[in-house]
Amino acid sequence: MRLKTAYKEQMTRVKIGIIGLGRMGRKHLRELVACDFWDVKYVCDIDPDKAEYSKEIAPNAIFTVDEDEIFLDPEVECIGLYALADSRPGRIKKAIKYGKHVICEKPLAYKLEDERELVDLSKTSNKICTVNLYLRNAWYTKEIKEFIKSGEIGDVAIIRICHMTPGLSPGEGHEYEGPSFHDCGMHYVDIARYYADSEYKTGHAQAIRMWDYKDPWWLQCHGTFENGIVYDITQGFVYGQLAKDQTHNSYTEIIGSKGFVRMHHDFKTAVVEKHGEHITEVVEKPYGDKNIDRLCYLMGEAILTGERPKNLPKFEDAYIASEYAWKMLEDAKTHDMPSKGTHEELEQIHFRRAHMTNGYGLLNQK
Ligand SMILES: NC(=O)c1ccc[n+]([C@@H]2O[C@H](COP(=O)([O-])OP(=O)(O)OC[C@H]3O[C@@H](n4cnc5c(N)ncnc54)[C@H](O)[C@@H]3O)[C@@H](O)[C@H]2O)c1
Repeated sequence: MRLKTAYKEQMTRVKIGIIGLGRMGRKHLRELVACDFWDVKYVCDIDPDKAEYSKEIAPNAIFTVDEDEIFLDPEVECIGLYALADSRPGRIKKAIKYGKHVICEKPLAYKLEDERELVDLSKTSNKICTVNLYLRNAWYTKEIKEFIKSGEIGDVAIIRICHMTPGLSPGEGHEYEGPSFHDCGMHYVDIARYYADSEYKTGHAQAIRMWDYKDPWWLQCHGTFENGIVYDITQGFVYGQLAKDQTHNSYTEIIGSKGFVRMHHDFKTAVVEKHGEHITEVVEKPYGDKNIDRLCYLMGEAILTGERPKNLPKFEDAYIASEYAWKMLEDAKTHDMPSKGTHEELEQIHFRRAHMTNGYGLLNQK
């Protein structure tokens, strides 16, 4: 996000230090460098080999393996936390203790009780804390929300969300983020709540274990919100991992008493189809990946103006999504949970993914 030159010259940039330069860390770093609100002073990763990536993306940033260099620098106003969930609670607390704002990845922590503590801390601190609930910042979410608000689909009744990709497989990393319905599924739990504009009331879940892995890797749940809207959410990183040509299935539909609005994407283009009482319209635009440019813009604006934009995701939103995703995983355990596929297939999947250079949710690819 680039500003007009005149404004840019008068502006002080926010100095940030980021920790964790894996797949997501690199995405955040690229967008911070591209946004005029930010000055990336430090990049930290425990892996010294990440210095090369850091130099490539942010040539002026200091690369370090010592996080304290960042926390102890009074010039640093904000910390970006993009390593894994187990490392986040301590660092969020430390950032706030040293008077820094926080942008972090989700989930806030590995354990729900830690997440609760961080929500309370973010509420009592005068520092701005946000988390990458990326679907909230997507152009298609805004488009769908506005169509609902216009009244074109009538009274919202049903929310249906499905996201299945041949992505992260069991044992590949993200162990602190939980099974796929928590790691990835919490985004869909969050966005269903955002569309419903209400809190979860009831929920029932069915899951399946795959390739003899201990945790379920596909889960479907349904239930109600406090305001009477019903939902179903399906999420799985189980979608043709060993298929010759890989694809995915990702859609959202909001069905009202008069019409509906739906969205699907292929990770390159997203298509929103509106079927309202008076309007039929199709909007097709680039997908927008994780919308981190938008997150960087909103957070930069919040720090520079001292006013938190309404649509900047809160820690509490991440906590609620995480809590509900865990709850559905717990519920699924109380029913029959079969297992399909073999450990040998999982090994084939790991081998294939380790050698793929292009695909779904690949970890640590250059
Ligand atoms: N918002 C989203 O859509 C989304 C998508 C994918 C992942 N994520 C989240 O982003 C986080 C990172 O995921 P990823 O896919 O980039 O993982 P990754 O494994 O690719 O990267 C993690 C990085 O953190 C570094 N690291 C680990 N421990 C560290 C420590 N103690 N100090 C400094 N660096 C450390 C590792 O060396 C690695 O470079 C996860 O919590 C994940 O849940 C979010």
